[in-house]
Parts: sequence; C-alpha cells; structure tokens
Amino acid sequence: MEYNKKHKIIIAVDGFSSCGKSTFAKAIAAKLGYIFIDTGAMYRAVTLYALEHGAIRSGVVDEDAVVALLKDIDIDFRFNPERGASDIYVNGDLVEGKIRTIEVSNCVSPVSSIREVREKLVAMQQQMGRKRGVVMDGRDIGTVVFPDAELKLFMTADPHIRALRRYDELKAKGDNVSLEEIEQNVRSRDEADMTRAISPLRQAEDAIVLDNSFMTIPEQMEWFMARYREVTE
Ligand code: DC
Repeated sequence: MEYNKKHKIIIAVDGFSSCGKSTFAKAIAAKLGYIFIDTGAMYRAVTLYALEHGAIRSGVVDEDAVVALLKDIDIDFRFNPERGASDIYVNGDLVEGKIRTIEVSNCVSPVSSIREVREKLVAMQQQMGRKRGVVMDGRDIGTVVFPDAELKLFMTADPHIRALRRYDELKAKGDNVSLEEIEQNVRSRDEADMTRAISPLRQAEDAIVLDNSFMTIPEQMEWFMARYREVTE
C-alpha cells in the first residue's frame, strides 16, 4: 500500500551513531516509495578519501589538507537493486564497502567538524532533497539541512546496545574488532558529535524521539506510520 503519493514530504532522521538510523530510514523510504539518503556515508566517503590521499596520518587529521582535497571529491549515489538502496561513489569509484571500517569510524568525527566539509555536503544534501519525497538520515538534518522538514525523528538507544549491534554487523563482515573498542568509538563519537562547534548533534524542538533500545524494526515501523499519518492526513 502506498500513502499520499502526491504530497511528498521530507523526513529527517537524526540521532546518535549506531542506533539503526540507516536501517530504519531505508525501510521507511521503501515503504513510502521515497529516496533514502544516508548523509553519514557522505562524511565517511570524504574521510576515506582523506585517508587515501595523505590528509590523515596516524589518525591525525590535517584540516587544511582535507579542505584542499575537497575540490577533487565528487560524490554521487547510484541505486543498487540487489541491496534495494543506493551505493555511494567517489569520483566514479564504488566505495560503499570501504567506508564503515573502524579506521574510517575513528577519523570521521574530526573530518565532519570541518566547516568547509559541512558546507559542501550540506549544499549537496539540500540539492538532493529539493523535490521532496526523501528520507534523509544524519545528525543535523532537522536542524540545519532541512529545518522545514515536515516530519523529524530523533533516534536514540542505550550506548551498550548500540555497540553490540555494530559489533554483530562488523563480525558478520569478517572484521576482527573487539566489543570494547566499538563501545569506546560509539561513546567518543556521541561526545564529539554533541560538542562540536558547527552543527552539533541536537534534537530539533519539533522532533519526535524514538528510543529503539528494545524495539524490533516492525515495531518501529508501526510507530512511524502512525506519526506519518498524523502529519500527512
Ligand atoms: O551515521 P554515521 O555513523 O555513518 O555517521 C558518520 C559520522 O558522520 C558521524 O560520526 C558524524 C558525522 N555526521 C555528521 O556530522 N552529520 C551528518 N549529517 C551525518 C553524519
């Protein structure tokens, strides 16, 4: 069943790292026939490029070097029917499989706190959502990218549960990481995301909170559809 095909809105899904925002946003987009945009993937893609081009050495981010690289970075999403979602490309190269490593995760917060990085990516995100009909997940979508989004969700979950989820995900991919290392990364990214000077993670005043610590995806979906109907009917 499809809902209100004619009246397309913007759905902003913000919140803490590793609380299932992308999985949830993707499911919402599939249900509504909307486009799903994972803005975290864009910050990760810039971080990967910076790692591969010497702008990050031994975990230290050289901000000027990252800014200098920005003009060479062209990001686009292409729909992958097998995944039912879009893959991210940098300068035509598929990087989807390389952006979720612990190395990228450890460097993405400092990269995403660089003003010029945010300006470039926010402008791209606004362009992608100009026709509406998008579900965009990130940290600043409801506050900065689309303050006029019709429906704003703020997702959260217990940090230990979030670390366990990411651990299972990485293990399944064959990554050899410890739960402690992941939990440390989750907690330090929360801290960095909330305290950075530019566009810190915060709940928009008109956002609805979803704590999914103990909720399944179908339960979250049921919760969401009730909110969606309130806004669109
Ligand atoms: O959603 P994620 O964990 O893949 O995001 C990776 C990082 O990117 C996260 O630590 C913060 C940053 N980010 C951001 O600053 N603004 C966004 N809109 C999305 C992500």
